Amino acid sequence: MLFTKGSIKKTVKTLGSVLTKKYKDKEVIVLSLLDGSFVFAADLVRQIKGDVDVRFLKIKSYEGTESSGSLVVARDFDFRQLDNKHVLIVDDILDTGLTLNTLCKQIRNETEILSLATCVLLDKQVNRTNNFEADYVGFKVQNEFVVGYGLDYNGKYRNLPFIGVLKEKVYR
Ligand code: IMP
Ligand code: MG
Repeated sequence: MLFTKGSIKKTVKTLGSVLTKKYKDKEVIVLSLLDGSFVFAADLVRQIKGDVDVRFLKIKSYEGTESSGSLVVARDFDFRQLDNKHVLIVDDILDTGLTLNTLCKQIRNETEILSLATCVLLDKQVNRTNNFEADYVGFKVQNEFVVGYGLDYNGKYRNLPFIGVLKEKVYR
């Protein structure tokens, strides 16, 4: 057990009130990265008071417990839907930074947005392969493979209401 249901709830609430202030009187698109962020995003958007438009983007970079080093973005997502909007990307965890770094570059290149920010529940920090930092972070974590609250190991454990460290014997 790393973060209990209660401590996650508290942190999400805090993030929500910070984001409520940031986007006050603004229309924001919350772009939730699938699959991992669906639980976090569902709770987070309910803590943001104001005009929130929620969209989803399917992305994949992980195989098992390792980053694959390349990013696959769903082809049917039209980035121009973000034009003239404030965009907040929400992801479950920031690890190597590949996902958010690549995606933010692509959004900046292919769209004309009003602003771009990123919010992650967890930040692993140690494996970063670029200098990407998220604007809003729930918790910092050590270099351990974590599951629960949307985070998976090969599709499993997303339904746990807490976040825990996966025992090595499960994947070694
Ligand atoms: P990055 O592109 O390396 O920053 O990795 C981000 C993605 O890797 C996240 O959206 C997660 O889906 C996945 N990921 C990274 N670390 C973990 C972990 O400890 N548990 C589950 N998924 C992880
Ligand atoms: Mg993910």
